Amino acid sequence: MDLNIYKDKIEQWVRNYFNNKPIENKFYIEPMTYSLKVGGKRIRPILMMITYNMYSKNMDSVLPFAAAMEMIHTYSLIHDDLPCMDDDDLRRGKPTNHKVYGEAIATLAGDGLLNEAMIIMFNECLDGDIKKIATGCIISKAAGAEGMIKGQIIDIGSEGKKISEAELLEMHKNKTGALIKASILSGATLGGASQEHIKLLNEFGEKLGLAFQVKDDILDIEGNQETLGKTQSDLDNEKTNFITMYGLEKCKDICTKLTEECYELLKQIDRDTEELAAITKFLLERQY
Ligand code: IPE
Ligand code: IPE
Ligand code: MG
Ligand code: MG
Ligand code: MG
Repeated sequence: MDLNIYKDKIEQWVRNYFNNKPIENKFYIEPMTYSLKVGGKRIRPILMMITYNMYSKNMDSVLPFAAAMEMIHTYSLIHDDLPCMDDDDLRRGKPTNHKVYGEAIATLAGDGLLNEAMIIMFNECLDGDIKKIATGCIISKAAGAEGMIKGQIIDIGSEGKKISEAELLEMHKNKTGALIKASILSGATLGGASQEHIKLLNEFGEKLGLAFQVKDDILDIEGNQETLGKTQSDLDNEKTNFITMYGLEKCKDICTKLTEECYELLKQIDRDTEELAAITKFLLERQY
């Protein structure tokens, strides 16, 4: 499977979208696109496109939603790196947004990307297609206070503290899992998947999202800053995460086990799940 085909499609869509903005808006578009332009695995839009592709081949319908998802994710990274949050200097191989534009503009760039994502999705829904409306609901809910925001609040509140296993799971499930799962479910919903498939993909998305954050925590300790393209700051920030709860070796076992459970779930879906299985493998083995 060549993930780059999907990656190129989404990057081209986003580039075109911002290139079509009037040139006089450049002063506020530039800080928004700075963090979006280079780097980034584009895992969420790729997951959405791959899942959608299992049900429908008209890629033009999924691209705006996939782009909106990447904009929401990028905004979450800009805010995550701010001095009042994780206080990081490097992201996607470049100085973080606030290092270049200052904290106020970085905050607004994040807000701008979130709202731009909503505009894109609402525009798509203007034709009244119920599948698009449902997709927009899934994505905006996952980004909100009952999703990613909730996870980030637990994350910040648990710095330097002992938390229970249940709280830790709730944190990971939301701060990272929510957008990963929503990427999969929105692709399935837009493509017209059956309720039975949605149920299996929901479980798959939860496990993949959890494995993704556990791997992120492992890389924060074991990874290489240059390959990762971001600062490793969990220890300095006294983050409570899977590593502090279970230790490095157990976390690797957890990732492997979750990945195997993901494969098992995919086997139960009577569609071509080869690309989803391949991306699951890629995410387990990734070094960035
Ligand atoms: C990093 O996400 C932040 C988390 C939610 C763990 P990614 O690892 O997907 O970051 P990019 O998009 O590739 O930069
Ligand atoms: C960030 O988790 C999750 C979101 C941005 C929502 P982390 O703080 O672990 O992500 P990195 O390691 O900085 O990419
Ligand atoms: Mg963080
Ligand atoms: Mg961080
Ligand atoms: Mg991290």
